[in-house]
Amino acid sequence: MDDFAYLDWNATTPLGEGVLAAMVAASQRAGANPSSVHRAGRLARRILEDLREKIAQVMEAAPQDVLFTGSGTEANNIAIRSPFVEARGVLITSRLEHPSVTRVAEALEREGRAQVHWAPVSAAGLIDVGNVREVLRRGGVRLVTLQAVNQETGVVQPVQEMHAECMHAGVPIHVDAVQAFGRMEVPLLGTTRTLAAHKFQGPKGIGAVVSSCGHRLHPVLLGGAQEKGLRPGTLDPMAAAGFLAALQERHRCRAGFAAQRASRDRLEAHVLSAFPGSEVNGDPALRLAHVSNVAVAGLDGAELVVALDVEGVAVSSGSACSAGTLEPSPVIAAMHSVARAKSSIRMSLGPGTTDRIVDGALQAISRIAGRPRR
Ligand SMILES: Cc1ncc(COP(=O)(O)O)c(C=O)c1O
Repeated sequence: MDDFAYLDWNATTPLGEGVLAAMVAASQRAGANPSSVHRAGRLARRILEDLREKIAQVMEAAPQDVLFTGSGTEANNIAIRSPFVEARGVLITSRLEHPSVTRVAEALEREGRAQVHWAPVSAAGLIDVGNVREVLRRGGVRLVTLQAVNQETGVVQPVQEMHAECMHAGVPIHVDAVQAFGRMEVPLLGTTRTLAAHKFQGPKGIGAVVSSCGHRLHPVLLGGAQEKGLRPGTLDPMAAAGFLAALQERHRCRAGFAAQRASRDRLEAHVLSAFPGSEVNGDPALRLAHVSNVAVAGLDGAELVVALDVEGVAVSSGSACSAGTLEPSPVIAAMHSVARAKSSIRMSLGPGTTDRIVDGALQAISRIAGRPRR
């Protein structure tokens, strides 16, 4: 990625220090299928279970409550679908959530399994806890699902408050911690929690659902008996080793994200002055230090992403999942309007973002701003 000013750390992150080495070491020792009964398979299984135990320790969970998945998306699917397998009921969520939550909610409603309550969201980018409290009081709620940090704006959501409301009402809560873990001090709360290693400098292709003791999950995929039948598919000790190595470096990773505040502010101030009338999306006081989302005045966000790409600067418009489809961000649309979503871009910095990278991005922004516009 040396050829780019990579400002898309919310989409994914490069591998952290020691992660690749841990993966190579695991693949050399645990190259067999951990479900095979022969000696090589049993060795791979032992290594995998040892990794699971260490991951569980970091997550303050029991090893049997750590379910490996192929991504944060898959983890969210399992955690959100599970409560609706055995009974119907109300699912509370909001339009701030990642599509791996909102699309599942929509599907559950279509299938007649859930009645979805879309909690209102504020222009600041926060879910309305008071509204959720009211709906919880009415009863019939089987699950509340809430992200810890928003993928588009970096706004930190009120997980502790919502957790307390859910516990008071006796309702399970799923916390999507994909954008939070390794980026802030995350309260390890939630009946279930979702992680994705690639967001905190671990490998792509591995995530987890971490459950509180005894919480029952159900499979989304059908096939083999791996992960007690909850997630069929050959397990990968190499990916799990990378997951653990990244987890062990989480404090350094978090510090690296937090250290981006000055660079983020410099970048944001430059965009605001290069394109007068532009506005920041998400309450600046509630954001993590590495994210800036700006509605750029007079420009189409997707076109600006392409123009910056040509200049060697990688940013995004809309959610990573809809990148390439030019779909305006549903998050910004929910906070403001579709028109504002269409003009918005997200810049997300990370531990590897140097002053030189930011300087290069500033120059590219100035060049684009200086061009005649339609
Ligand atoms: C908040 C949030 N949840 C879930 C996901 C999905 O994770 P993955 O890309 O590993 O499927 C993402 C990805 O961007 C995310 O930002």
